[in-house]
Amino acid sequence: MTVREILKMGDARLLRVAEPVQTFDTPELHALIADLHDTMVAVNGAGLAAPQIGVNLQLVIFGSTAMNPRYPGRPLVPRTVLLNPVITPLGAEEEDDWEGCLSVPGLRGVVPRLSRIRYTGFDEKGTAIDRTVDGFHARVVQHECDHLIGKLYPMRVRDFSRFGFTEVLFPEISAAEDD
Ligand code: NI
Repeated sequence: MTVREILKMGDARLLRVAEPVQTFDTPELHALIADLHDTMVAVNGAGLAAPQIGVNLQLVIFGSTAMNPRYPGRPLVPRTVLLNPVITPLGAEEEDDWEGCLSVPGLRGVVPRLSRIRYTGFDEKGTAIDRTVDGFHARVVQHECDHLIGKLYPMRVRDFSRFGFTEVLFPEISAAEDD
C-alpha cells in the first residue's frame, strides 16, 4: 500500500473523462483502492478520486470522521468506495458552502451544489449502492464525481470574491493542513 502523488490543477490528466470500471473485486482494483485510501488519509482528505492519482477510472472514495482537521465541525459521511457513479438531482435547490481540493492545495472557494441528490453505483465487490442524501454528504459526492468528468471545483465557483487562500480565510484550518 502506497501513498501516491496527488496531481495538481494544471495537469491535463485531471481534465479527462474517466472510463468505467469493467471488472470488480480484482486484486488490482483492491490495491488501487488501498493506495487511494492511504493517500487520502495521509493528507487528511475527505475524498479522493482515482484521476487525482493519474488513474483514469470512475472510482472515488470519500468519508469523514469527526476528527478531520480539514473539515472541523462537519457532519460524518460514511466511508464509501464508489465505482461508476451516477448522480440524479432531486429538485433544483442549491446551497453554497466552502470547498477545498487536494489537487488545488492552499485554496478554498464557495461552490453552489445541489442540496439533495440520489447517487447510484457499485462498491469494489460489485455490490450496488443506492443512496439519497443531502447537505455535506451530497456536496462531497458531487465534488468527487466532478473529478470523473474533468471538473475541478474552481470551475464551479460563481462568486470569486469568496475564493482565496486557506491561510487567510481560515487560519485555524490552515494550521492543521499539510498543504
Ligand atoms: Ni477534489
